[in-house]
Amino acid sequence: MNSETTTQMTLTSPYLLLISCVATIAGILGWRWWKQHTVYKDLKSFPSPPRHWLLGNLPEILAAVKQKKFSQLIFDWSQELGPIYVYWIRYPILVLCKPKLIEETIINGMRDGTLIRSKRANQAWNDIAGPILLGQTASEWQWRRKAWNPEFSSSGISKYMDIISQGCEQTIRTIKATESPEAICVDPLFIELTMRVISSLLLGIPIDKQAVTPEGPPLDPAKVYEATSILSYRFLRVATGQKMWMKYLPTKNSRAYWGARKYLEDLVGPRVDLALQMREQKKTDFGQISSLFQESMLVKIAAKEPQYNRESLLAEVMELLLAGTDTTAHTLSFAVGELALNQRVFRKARGIIDQVWQNYGGINVGSLKDLDYIRGIVKETLRLYSVASGSTSLEVERETVIEGKIIPRGTKIFWSMLAAGRDPEVYPQPDEFLPERWLERKGSSPLPMIDFGSGSHRCLGEHLSMLEATVMLSLLLRYFDWELVNGRSSLEQLEQNLLIYPVDKMPVRFWLRYSVNHLPLTQPELTVL
Ligand code: HEM
Repeated sequence: MNSETTTQMTLTSPYLLLISCVATIAGILGWRWWKQHTVYKDLKSFPSPPRHWLLGNLPEILAAVKQKKFSQLIFDWSQELGPIYVYWIRYPILVLCKPKLIEETIINGMRDGTLIRSKRANQAWNDIAGPILLGQTASEWQWRRKAWNPEFSSSGISKYMDIISQGCEQTIRTIKATESPEAICVDPLFIELTMRVISSLLLGIPIDKQAVTPEGPPLDPAKVYEATSILSYRFLRVATGQKMWMKYLPTKNSRAYWGARKYLEDLVGPRVDLALQMREQKKTDFGQISSLFQESMLVKIAAKEPQYNRESLLAEVMELLLAGTDTTAHTLSFAVGELALNQRVFRKARGIIDQVWQNYGGINVGSLKDLDYIRGIVKETLRLYSVASGSTSLEVERETVIEGKIIPRGTKIFWSMLAAGRDPEVYPQPDEFLPERWLERKGSSPLPMIDFGSGSHRCLGEHLSMLEATVMLSLLLRYFDWELVNGRSSLEQLEQNLLIYPVDKMPVRFWLRYSVNHLPLTQPELTVL
């Protein structure tokens, strides 16, 4: 090779590189344009928010996630565009806002295989700490779900009534200890309650704040909540487009993510190790281990399901701590808020609770059947404040038809439970707080209740959540009158981490009821069972 040729190549190679880069980008853009105009052409008949020619609606989505208003944006678009619309990122996302349509699409689509769970959302779930129920499909999901189902079934959960009641009683005592008229923020209070309950059920950590925990570090609800919030917000960012490898960059967010994982691993790890030792019978002397731990779900599941190893048990426990806490806690806060603003509902519920006390002496397994109205309050709260509106999406695996229109393979399916909960055809007077609508009505079919999800991945913790919220609201109604310090704005100023929550943490002023004022807060009034 002579020196002239070498000089020519050196000069031309940057140009070649540039040309091939431009050609590649042009190819990708052309391919995308072609896909949108051919493969996805049928979706153009659906309304759509205005979008950037190249980035589609991605900038608005990312901005909404950053401002903690993602579900609000999806809801706002539904108000402008109607109950079924499409927004675009690299691919189209069909958003459904009608409860029955959402329910049927998920159930039927997943049953016949035309829809699958979104690969990106699954990856984002599994990247929280390892493979978990929420991120698994097919047989990998099946054996996990089969293991946990009996524990979280209605009868399985009622065995833990004692623990749930202890937690709720502790919350009542905390409120009672607050000098009225001082206000108390109920959202953190309920987070502490739900965290203590799920940790007790799962890990055998005593509900009692003062009790020691020989099997591992004690529970610090505020710190655990901070850690789970970091992980769940990261899920939302990854599910909506952030690259997973970004967790390896030396950024503040990455440090927070690794710190949160480590904190939770330090709390859960020793207990998982112990449960696995018990399974392997390596540990024969169980004298030092509390009976609460020996009876915990963790020990039962580890013994029952040999496919669980350290990594997968650790990840699953972290998922349950994350899923089992602020879901119920924020729902309770919104319910307390709505009760304060709806005196008719408050008085009716109070009447029912006083009657229950007269008949059963308190809240116990026997009295639960008389608490349909209180469960109606929880469901009505979820209808209006569907805290988990937007945790999953689906993908069209095989071309399908929705609302008479062809939906091509590759389209993502998403839904707004906030919008669905306000569908006036299904829930007349949608802006009114009417728990009565959830009471059984002879001759008419039950209302769709989609806030716990639909289909096979429907919420594992539904019964726990309903029971916990029902007992807590019943005790509050029995013992206190209350008002919202910030009035309706507590129910209007909402943000979203992964879940929707009240920004001001719902400050409430409680007064102990005169008629029960003289009663002690423990035996015999609050004795459960
Ligand atoms: C108000 C309370 C709650 C709401 C609104 C709620 C909502 C949901 C929703 C919408 C799903 C479906 C997600 C999907 O399809 O990907 C789900 C799944 C799940 N929930 Fe809940 N949840 C609540 C309470 C709880 C509690 C207390 C637990 C604790 C055990 C829990 C554990 C789970 C788990 C493990 C799944 C995944 C189930 C699976 O993939 O098979 N949830 N929840």
